Amino acid sequence: MELSDIVKEAFGKAYPGEDFGGVRVLPATDPKFGDYQCNDALKFAKKAHANPREVGAKVAEALKGNDVFEKVEIAGPGFLNLTVSGGWLNAQLSALDSKPACGIPQKGAGKKIVIDYSSPNAAKQMHIGHIRSTVIGCAIDRIFRSLGYDVIADNHLGDWGTQFGILIKGYRELLTDEERENLTVANLEKCYVLSAAKAKEEDGVWKDACRAELVKLQQGDKDNLALWKRFIDISIGEFDRMYAKLGVKFDTYRGESYYNDTMPGVVAKLQEMGLAVESEGALVVNLEAEKLGVAIVRKSDGGYNYTTSDLACVKTRVEEYDPERIIYVTDARQQLHFKQWFSIAAKMGYTTKLVHVPFGLMSYQGKAISTREGNLIKLDELLAEAKRRAYDIVKERGGDETLAEQIGYGAVKYSDLSHDPITDIDFSWDKALALEGNSGPYLQYAYARVCSLLEKASGGADRDGSFLVATPAEKRLALQLLEFPGAVVRAAEAYKPSVLADYLFQTAQLYSSFYQSSPILKSEPSVRAARLKLCALFGKVLSMGLGLLGIDTPRHI
Ligand code: ARG
Repeated sequence: MELSDIVKEAFGKAYPGEDFGGVRVLPATDPKFGDYQCNDALKFAKKAHANPREVGAKVAEALKGNDVFEKVEIAGPGFLNLTVSGGWLNAQLSALDSKPACGIPQKGAGKKIVIDYSSPNAAKQMHIGHIRSTVIGCAIDRIFRSLGYDVIADNHLGDWGTQFGILIKGYRELLTDEERENLTVANLEKCYVLSAAKAKEEDGVWKDACRAELVKLQQGDKDNLALWKRFIDISIGEFDRMYAKLGVKFDTYRGESYYNDTMPGVVAKLQEMGLAVESEGALVVNLEAEKLGVAIVRKSDGGYNYTTSDLACVKTRVEEYDPERIIYVTDARQQLHFKQWFSIAAKMGYTTKLVHVPFGLMSYQGKAISTREGNLIKLDELLAEAKRRAYDIVKERGGDETLAEQIGYGAVKYSDLSHDPITDIDFSWDKALALEGNSGPYLQYAYARVCSLLEKASGGADRDGSFLVATPAEKRLALQLLEFPGAVVRAAEAYKPSVLADYLFQTAQLYSSFYQSSPILKSEPSVRAARLKLCALFGKVLSMGLGLLGIDTPRHI
């Protein structure tokens, strides 16, 4: 039985007939208050106009004779400080150890969700700014899958829009034959920049020509469609190369263009429902009542926009998958866009839970990342640099390139995931690759160290013993390990992989204090076996947790 249920039952015994559904037992904020605490005697006393310490005393009395708690104390104005018994703790550890996936509850069984992340714009190289949606989205994806959800990871590529007129015109006239033949995303990007600059020329000739190419594309012109398709294929090929390095996999790659045919119907429905009205030639939905301004759903030139495409996309996803929720991971500058169209979707009758997970800006060495600053580092270069720097560190220990990738990419990912997504972060090589402190390599080393300890301990024989928590350092680590499933649930509920990262870092710190204060291999057999069990469980939890963050856990570093 869960601790909360045990204490709930005691409340019921002390005060029959009352509702104690909300009673919660939480880990103690400080070990001096015991192992766990419960603050509900206070809440109940307020409601029942009773003396909180008396309520606490009655509940403590009802908990007597229970073999879960070794000690129940009433502190301050009625807090219950709970100390668990060794027997209970050992049994819990062994239950956690034997459960699949370290006890992560399968809350999502039978539920489908869509996660829309990474979603870069085609024909542009991915740069350092794209790392956040990809890495945060991938971690949220893995966390939800671990909870048993049926996740559809969709890469909503920006693969439609005016830029394709500019690109097609540029491709035809500004690239060399050689560049056209060996078309790369880098060439496409160059072609876009050159063509866009020409489109700014005063006579407007180039701009009109780009526009004409766009119209041809939109009308289904065979040549332009084939070119567009080629640009998209090349872009996806390049993106996939990055995803392979980052260990990211999508179930679908449905770009904005996928919804082209659905948009007119959505707009017609908005008009029919009286939600969209004409304004200066455009069609708009007025959201002033919710202080969300006005959202354009059809531009005055008849074209659709980002809002229209997201509305068409939600219609398709709901009809096709009927998901329990849809999660969108994008930068925080898109918050108004999501608020606007979430509100329109609700008015249209969509009841699916729509969640926007916004993340802050990434800067580099204190400067915003922008073309103008000249620090728009390509993702490819960032990963190459991470690998190079990690290689410098691991080669002294005989590490190879694969290890350098695991450490380097892990460092880049963790330096992002260890922050609450909404905060702005400044990327720093020194911090990311630090071997001490809250970094990816620190946690990977902790894992490798525990693996080598277990190997040294002569295989599995020692681990067949049972858990036997005795010292305070063992107990703190043990209590922390029991919190793993809860940390995964909290990370999912908050859509913050950082909750899990924090948990893992704290766990590694408690492991390190335990390790420093407790001899293992040289202890007498029963202590040695019990400590090895704890080490093995720590290794299991750490590697499972890092895996959920998309970080590899090499056994040897
Ligand atoms: N392509 C957009 C960007 O680069 C992100 C798309 C996010 N997904 C969505 N359904 N709006 O910012």
